[in-house]
Amino acid sequence: MRIYREKDYEAMSRRAAQIIAGEIVHNPACVLGLATGSTPEGAYRYLVDWYKQGLISFQDVLSVNLDEYVGLAPSHDQSYRYFMQSNLFDHVDIAAENTRVPDGLTKDPETFCQEYDAYIRSVGYVSLQLLGIGRNGHIGFNEPGDHFVKQTHVVDLAESTIDANARFFATRDDVPKQAISMGIGAIMGAKKVLLCASGEEKADAICSSLCGPITPKCPGSILQLHPNVVLVADEAALSKVPAGVIA
Ligand code: PGA
Repeated sequence: MRIYREKDYEAMSRRAAQIIAGEIVHNPACVLGLATGSTPEGAYRYLVDWYKQGLISFQDVLSVNLDEYVGLAPSHDQSYRYFMQSNLFDHVDIAAENTRVPDGLTKDPETFCQEYDAYIRSVGYVSLQLLGIGRNGHIGFNEPGDHFVKQTHVVDLAESTIDANARFFATRDDVPKQAISMGIGAIMGAKKVLLCASGEEKADAICSSLCGPITPKCPGSILQLHPNVVLVADEAALSKVPAGVIA
């Protein structure tokens, strides 16, 4: 695992954007696995800037997102489809039909999830998977549990995740209780994983993911078995990782 230790959120965002842009330049028809939440917002801002400067193009890029809340329409301002449109897709030249975000309104989640995985297989898996991490170690919405779930699936969100995400909704009761999440299989199938973290509240999750036992109780720990992970984190998020681990 390569670790970039950045000063703060801004530096983390720029470094993450450089790695994503590098993938696009190197492989213009790459498959980007994309994430939502506070962590990647800054990186998307850099990518939009660089697109506007003519430095990168998303013309041939395919994207597939990690997750979506069950019950939220794409037009809901807290849906992850809405997030992707407003933070990235609406500002760059990616073709609408080349973007995939799980359908939070699907009437048949089981078939939907199977088809989502089939799509990921059909495009040869993700070239670069961007990941944030939850305070509880979740990646995508793969919450801590007794086993790793390989397939895309419907997840009951952990109470701690609902608490953490309540900041985006009018009240805690408005936070959806379920999500559709890409499974560990598709994440581990990605050729490269770019894990990003900022802030002290992520320090335990990063420390456990890097140095703790590989266990579904900390889903991020599975990344210890991925051969090509880049971690971009700020000093606060790395503050609990023992010195020897960061070369
Ligand atoms: P955040 O969420 O980027 O909003 O902190 C990350 C996550 O929960 O995976």
